[in-house]
Amino acid sequence: MRALVYHGPGAKAWEEVPKPEITVGTDAIVRVDTTTICGTDLHILKGDVPVVTDGRILGHEAVGTVESVGRGVQTVKPGDRVLVSCVTVCGTCRFCREGHSGQCLGGGGWIFGYKIDGTQAEYVRVPFADTSTYPVPDGVPDEHILMLADILPTAYEVGVLNGGVRPGDVVAIVGSGPIGLSAITGARLFSPSHIVAIDLADSRLEAAKRFGADITVNNRTDDPLEAVRSLTGGLGADVAIEAVGVPATFELAVELSRPGGRIANIGVHGEPATLHLEEQWIRNITITTGLVDTYSTPTLLRLVTSGQIDAGRFITHRFALDEFDEAYDVFARAGETGALKVVLSR
Ligand SMILES: NC(=O)c1ccc[n+]([C@@H]2O[C@H](COP(=O)([O-])OP(=O)(O)OC[C@H]3O[C@@H](n4cnc5c(N)ncnc54)[C@H](O)[C@@H]3O)[C@@H](O)[C@H]2O)c1
Ligand SMILES: [Zn+2]
Ligand SMILES: [Zn+2]
Repeated sequence: MRALVYHGPGAKAWEEVPKPEITVGTDAIVRVDTTTICGTDLHILKGDVPVVTDGRILGHEAVGTVESVGRGVQTVKPGDRVLVSCVTVCGTCRFCREGHSGQCLGGGGWIFGYKIDGTQAEYVRVPFADTSTYPVPDGVPDEHILMLADILPTAYEVGVLNGGVRPGDVVAIVGSGPIGLSAITGARLFSPSHIVAIDLADSRLEAAKRFGADITVNNRTDDPLEAVRSLTGGLGADVAIEAVGVPATFELAVELSRPGGRIANIGVHGEPATLHLEEQWIRNITITTGLVDTYSTPTLLRLVTSGQIDAGRFITHRFALDEFDEAYDVFARAGETGALKVVLSR
C-alpha cells in the first residue's frame, strides 16, 4: 500500500510500504476513505516532536471502512464505516474508566502518527477497535464526521467544557485557527452573551465571524483587553480560552479573565509561559489544561448528525489521497491560502 512516511525533520514521502496486519486480537484493519492534516503534523515535520522517528506513517484522523478484525473484536465488523479518533481507548485502565483516555495507561491515548503508524495511508491498524472507533451515521458525509477525529472534541472538552461556559457568559477566545473556530462552535451551544475572537490574522477573524463570534479583535492593531472590558463593565471575560500555544497568548488569556473567571488552555506549548501570581493570587481564577480525552465524541456525533453543528464549514480544500505534497503545502501556508481543514479522500 501507499502511505505518507516521515523521514526526519523536513522530509516526508508518499511511498510504498507493507500493508498493516492484525498483531493483537483487539485490532482492526481499516481502509482509509478520508483523512486530514493537523497543525500537530506540521510540528512533527519541523522536528519538534522527537518521539516521532524516521519511518513513521503520519496522521491521527480518519474515516474509513473496516477490512478485517482480530478474534477479540466484538462490535466492529468488516464493512462497517467508522470514525478513527485521534485518541485510542484501551477501555480498561483507570483513566479510560474515568473518561480520561487521553491519559490511557493501557497502550492507548494519542498514539497514531506518533508512537504507532498513523492514518495518512491507504490502510491503518487500529488497536482496541471496539472502544476506539465510532460507527459513521447514515446520511452524513464522511468528511463532516472526520472533523470529530480531533478538532471538535479537543476544543469542546479542553476549551468549552473545561472552561465551564454557561448561558450569558462573555467568552474570549484567543486564536481563530481550526481549534479556536471549534471552540466558537462549541461555546455557541451554551448561548453565551458574547464571543470575542482574537487573532493576528484578518482572514482568520473573518472565519471567526462566520463561525459565530460577534466581536473580533486583531491584537496586532487593537487592544483586546479594552474590547473585553468595555463589554463587561471593566471586569473581564467569564471564560477565556487559549487556542494558540505561545507564552503571549496564555498570558493574554489570563489578563482577559474577570475575577473568579475561568481560563481554559488548549494550545500546545513549547516554551514556558509566565503566570503572574503577584497579580492573580487575589483574583479567584481557575486555570485548566488538557489533552483531549474524546469522551464527548458520542455527543458531538449527535450534534453533527442532527445539524446543530455544521462540521462542513471547516473544510476549505479537497485532494486525492496521493496529493499529500500539495495538501501539506496548502495547509502549511494557511495565511495565504485561507486553509482551515484540508481533506484527502480516496
Ligand atoms: N490540547 C490538545 O489536546 C490539543 C489538540 C489539538 C491541537 N492543540 C493545539 O491547539 C492550538 C491551536 O491549533 P490550530 O490547529 O487552531 O492552530 P493554527 O496554527 O491553525 O491557529 C493558531 C491561530 O493563532 C493565531 N495566532 C498566533 N499568534 C497569535 C497571537 N500572538 N495572538 C493572537 N493570535 C495568534 C494565528 O494567526 C492562527 O490563526 C495549537 O497549539 C495546537 O497544537 C491542542
Ligand atoms: Zn491533531
Ligand atoms: Zn486506557
